[in-house]
Amino acid sequence: MQKKISVIGAGNVGATTAQLIAEKNLADVVLYDIVEGIPQGKALDIQEACPLWQSDAVVRGSNDFKDTAGSDIVVMTAGLARKPGMRRDDLLQANANIIRTVADNIKQTSPEAIVIVVTNPMDAMAQLMQKVTGFPHQRVIGMGGVLDSARMRSFIVMETGASPSDVQAIVLGGHGDLMVPVAGATTVNGKCITGLLPDSKVAAIIDRTKNGGAEIVSLLKTGSAYYAPAASTVEMIENILGSKRDILPCSVYLNGEYGINGVYSGVPVRLSLNGLEEIVKIELTGEEKEALNRSAEAVRELMRKIGA
Ligand code: NAI
Ligand code: 2OP
Repeated sequence: MQKKISVIGAGNVGATTAQLIAEKNLADVVLYDIVEGIPQGKALDIQEACPLWQSDAVVRGSNDFKDTAGSDIVVMTAGLARKPGMRRDDLLQANANIIRTVADNIKQTSPEAIVIVVTNPMDAMAQLMQKVTGFPHQRVIGMGGVLDSARMRSFIVMETGASPSDVQAIVLGGHGDLMVPVAGATTVNGKCITGLLPDSKVAAIIDRTKNGGAEIVSLLKTGSAYYAPAASTVEMIENILGSKRDILPCSVYLNGEYGINGVYSGVPVRLSLNGLEEIVKIELTGEEKEALNRSAEAVRELMRKIGA
């Protein structure tokens, strides 16, 4: 039987995620939004493309949360997106309220689901989602590191001309200004970029990665990135469903791993139908460990601000 994936929020990230799920025939999709007509119209448009993709996926749009019932995976994209000059954290209070409402609904309608949280500020919103649903930590996972790592890989491809499949990059920590690109684990054809590129180029790539979201916002002016975020979310879905078996940087609850306790942050993981299958340990420098701690502290501060 096809799996069922519900995408909450039929905006840019949500609709593009629904499209990719249907195009790859990964699951049936329910696209949910509070605005009447939008999820229905976008779902129908995607459904009409399915014959061209030779996809059997059934795609439905709805304003009734009950239609999401029994989902295997719920992707949370509902919320406000950044405008120029805004930081991800500026979205905190408004999006926290949306998360609380949606989490209550997910808890009632899809109690066995794995929840992927995309809404910003993502790490804090993932932690809030877990808290309100009461789901095991393994079943609530945040998307950010896959996107940040894909951005870093793209910038290395632009700099070196290497094939994207020969470039590996890993960005840990929270999906925010304090994210931690790990240069030592970033390779082209297995060779570390620190030995391949001058220090100034490596520093510029790291800087551009950290500002990758803002760079897109400043160009679009009316919203934030969505093609790469949707592709990153679907990468996680494919790993959960088992058609891929990669190590991905995802935001998960840390219980002493990497020396961090009691907070969501981005670390390398393996995913499965259980959600989080395993947190993978990689070597970090002392400086990277400190940066990871600072990033986790920033998430703790956001949790304090929303009283959670
Ligand atoms: P968007 O504005 O295009 O779409 C948001 C949608 O959420 C709208 O259709 C709106 O009607 C809907 N919505 C608002 N309240 C709702 C509710 N209570 N229930 C259901 N739907 C509701 O925004 P976009 O570009 O899709 O971004 C969505 C979120 O994802 C933002 O918070 C953005 O910052 C975040 N984001 C996170 C990324 C990450 O790497 N974690 C990457 C890209 C975006
Ligand atoms: C991004 O990194 C806005 O978090 C979003 O593009």
